[in-house]
Parts: sequence; structure tokens; C-alpha cells
Amino acid sequence: MVLIESIQEILTRAFIKAYPSLGSQEVLPHWQSEVTRATAAQYGHYQCNSAMKLTKRLGANPREIATQVLNAVKELDGENKIEKLEIAGPGFINIWLNPDFINSEINKILRDNRAGVPTVKIPQKIVVDFSAPNTAKEMHVGHLRSTIIGDALARILEFLGHDVLRLNHIGDWGTQFGMLIAYLKQYQPEVAEGKLETDLSHLMSWYKASKKIFDQDPAFKQSAQQEVVALQSGEFGAIKIWQMICDISQKAYHQIYDYLDVKLIDRGESFYNPMLAGIVQDLTTGGFVTVNEGAKCIFLDGFKNREGEPLPMMLQKSDGGYNYDTTDMAAVKHRVQTEKANRLIYVTDSGQSTHFAMLFAAAKKVGYVNDNIRLDHVPFGLVLGPDGKKYKTRSGDTEKLMDLLAEGVVRAKNILLERNKIEQIFTESELEHTAKTIGISAIKYADLSGNRIQDYVFEYDKMLKLDGNTAAFLIYAYVRTAGIKRKLSNIELNAQNQDLAKITLEHPMEFNLAVHLLRFPEMITEVADDLFPNRLCEYLFELANHFNQFFRDCRIIGSEEQASRLSLSELTAKVLKLGMGLLGLKTVEKM
Ligand code: ARG
Repeated sequence: MVLIESIQEILTRAFIKAYPSLGSQEVLPHWQSEVTRATAAQYGHYQCNSAMKLTKRLGANPREIATQVLNAVKELDGENKIEKLEIAGPGFINIWLNPDFINSEINKILRDNRAGVPTVKIPQKIVVDFSAPNTAKEMHVGHLRSTIIGDALARILEFLGHDVLRLNHIGDWGTQFGMLIAYLKQYQPEVAEGKLETDLSHLMSWYKASKKIFDQDPAFKQSAQQEVVALQSGEFGAIKIWQMICDISQKAYHQIYDYLDVKLIDRGESFYNPMLAGIVQDLTTGGFVTVNEGAKCIFLDGFKNREGEPLPMMLQKSDGGYNYDTTDMAAVKHRVQTEKANRLIYVTDSGQSTHFAMLFAAAKKVGYVNDNIRLDHVPFGLVLGPDGKKYKTRSGDTEKLMDLLAEGVVRAKNILLERNKIEQIFTESELEHTAKTIGISAIKYADLSGNRIQDYVFEYDKMLKLDGNTAAFLIYAYVRTAGIKRKLSNIELNAQNQDLAKITLEHPMEFNLAVHLLRFPEMITEVADDLFPNRLCEYLFELANHFNQFFRDCRIIGSEEQASRLSLSELTAKVLKLGMGLLGLKTVEKM
């Protein structure tokens, strides 16, 4: 049980003790008190708002309820977790943890390499569907956002012990390939025949060129359409060129994933191709399909278009072609039935919210998904340029996305070079390594630290700042802990991790820091549920702040409390590194 849950449990039992009807199984089988973190330090550590919500049910005023609960807690809290409770305002219960309890808990996690984060009792199979660029089209900053957020979520779920399948649902199938294949055959025959190697930026410019000709030249249009047919019927020549296009694209994407240290399994739309006809067949037999102007559709309650007419999900167009929806239906089925997933998570921009709402509704309606399976769409806002408009790399291609990342690293390097002039801190190779760590972490953190639903502005100067809610600020706090350890191990050789001394908390800043550290497990559990990584960022930002205050107010080196404080600093280092690692960020030892 994480800390907040153990406090909640005491409160729940206290409510039931004071008002036994709350515990009656028939009436309220799952009643639980509501406990949240206190909104400010003067309100304690946690706070319970349930008294207000129960006035009607219990026929008493909330302050009276709170008083009864207070008395019950005193009898129930055997371990003395709670020091003090106070009733505030209309009936809030403010909760302070017992200093002795904090002292003993902090020592429990000191040597735990998970810093108290439990693994789940029942691991789930979870699909995280993220990144998912479209072959031979640009991988844009939206895909980068999906990559960064999806990776962070996958890391968190993996850390909790789930079996996570990281799937890259690449848009690698569709009529656009007909144009490109026809174009290559006609204008780049050596490439088409595999005699000349090429790369993604060439493919993309040819794709654009093919589109133009498609719109102007009826003969070309016809051959493009023939290539679509060839591709769909699995004709060898067409498939071979398509495969080459896919390989080149995938190679380019994986350069970016490697640079970002993101792991992904490519399983593009084409993987589900062989299943599509069967899906439509099944759902037709099952009576879920309505034919609407020749198209096969599923009508779902509650979905309407702008004109207020019912908005169906389309499974098969009147020309027999399948689309994005069909593939996603097949993917849900495959992930649930073959992969045996318990939870499906999709990370895309908010523009696809309706698509996923319909997909989820349809999958439930036709029975691909039952109540035991959880479906989450994780939407996010746009990436904006400093001008407030949708961010665009100059030519909008994937290579440029790599430049965008590399530029962050170059800028980080320039900052470090300036510092190195003043004080020789780094060797050449340390400088390279540190610049990459800071540059990439800065870009990732800028993306993760805002509420993902909102748009965010991509600005190097802001993301590379050393102060404020940035990756560099967190890294700097970590570097500070490393500095303390280095200094002490020069003085005393035994100041090493394995024999960390017991922590004895005394100073208020030590307590603040310790309580915050104890909340790490609940933070991770909560983010695994609500899928908002910015909450973990906030947590780490606050952790760095608490640590800096502790560092400012509590002398470590040469003090009587040196050993205990070194342990507290080392524990902070561990949680910082762990937490940052779960977001895909790295740390360095000096800066
Ligand atoms: N390729 C899509 C795009 O670029 C994203 C795919 C998301 N995943 C899915 N299963 N639909 O917008």
C-alpha cells in the first residue's frame, strides 16, 4: 500500500467506526473515504473531504461528522501514523503525519532500490500504441510528442511490473503507395529496380512530385491506380517496391528512436491487412453493419456530425476499400484476443479524440472488448513555434526532425563551453556526453512537463534554462547530490552507498524533504492510472526545490548530522534518478 492509501484506509475505518451504516455491505459495498494531498503546507500533509459529502446520507452537519471521525481515528491508528488532525472550514479534516512515523518510514526506503514503489500484485498485459508516423510522409513534431509521452508512460507501467507491448502502428498502407510506386517505376527506374539506394528525404520529395502528376496527368493516375490494385492483390513487383519504401522509412524513424533511447516494435497497419475482410464479414454476420450508400458502417449511439446527423464508423468504402477505422478495429481484436492485453493505451494528438471515442464504443458494442479491459486514449495538444503557430520544420521532413533534436544538443553544448571557459569542469568527451544528456532531456522534459492536453511552445532558450521547471534544473539538483558524495568520500572513505547511515530527521527542512520522498510511490501509482506524466515532472521539480532548501538550511559536511544528512541526500539522488529515468531522462555526475 502506498502512503496515501494507508492514510485513506485509516480514515475509511474511522468513518465506518463512527457511522457503521457506511460499512454495511448491501448499502455501500465499496465506500471509501476521499483523501488527497493537502493543498498547502499549513493544512498538513493530507486532507479528507468526505464529511461534507456525507451530510445528507448521515443526516448530520459536516463538522459534527468530522468530530466523530477524529475521535475514532485516535482509537484506530495503532501504528501512530497520524500525529494530529484538525477540522477546518465547513468540515475538512486536515491530517499531519507523525514525525516518528516519518523517521521510521524514510529509513525503510533508504536502501530500497525502488524507493518504496511496489510492484503490482496482478501484472497486466498493456499495449501502448505510440509514435506511429506514416511511411513516406513526414514524421512531424506531433509524432515526436507521441514518442516522448508514450515512452514515458510505457516506462512507468513497466517499472510497476506490467508486461508492456510498445507498438508502433505505422501508417504503412494505403492508396498513396500506388502513386509513389508508379512514380518510381517511371521516373526513378533504377531505384524501383533496387539498383540504386535512396533515403527517406528523396522518397518524400518523390511522393510530393507523384501527387502533383497524379492530379494533372490522367495516364499517370491510371497507372497509379493499377499499382494500388497490384499492391492489394499482393503482386510481387509492387510488394517489393513497397517493402523497400517501408524499410527506408523505418530505418529513418529508428535513427530518431535510438537517439532518444526509445524502444518500439514496428507493427504497422499492413500487419492487419489479412484480417480486414474477416472482420467486416464477422461483424456483418453479427448484425452490426448497416449499408449506407454502398458503404458498410457501424452506427453508434451518441455520435453526430456537424449537421447533427448520425456519424457512423466506416468499415468498408463503397469501392470495397478499407480504411483507418477498419484497421484499428482489427488491431483492437488482435491485441485483445491474440496478445491477451488487459489494457490498450493510444497516444495521439487530440485531433483523433472522436476517432478513438468511436473505436472504443464500437469495440465494446461488437464484443471485442468487455468490462475487464481498459481502453485509454491519451490525447495531447499541438507543438507551437515561438510565433504561436503550429510548429513546422523548414521542409517538414524527418531528417529535419533529427536536426531539431541535434540543435538542442548543440545549444546545450554552447552553454557548457561557456562555463568550461570560466572553470575547467569537463574533458572533451565529458562535454559531448553532458551536452547530449542535457539537450535531449531538455526537449523531452519541455514536452512532458506541461499538461499534455494543452498546446506547448517549442523554445530552446526556455527549455535549456538552469532555473525554473526544466530538465537542467533537475539534473543540477542531482549533480549537487553527487558533489556532496564526492566531497565526503574524499574525506571519509566509508561514505559509500552500501553503508549509508540511518537517517535521523530533525530540521523542518529535513522533514519536508522526507515527506516528499515518501510520496514517490503514490505519485507513480497515480500517474500509471491517470496517464499525466506532467504530474511526475511537478513532483520531481518540487523534490529538487525541497532538496535545495534542505541544502541551504542544513549544513551537511562537517556537521554533527553529517552521516544522516548524507543518507538523506543519497536517497534524494536515488529518487531523482529513478523518477527522471521513468520519464526517459538521464542524469550526469557533474555539471
Ligand atoms: N499514423 C497515425 C497518425 O499519424 C497515428 C496512429 C495511431 N494509432 C492507431 N492505432 N490509430 O496520425
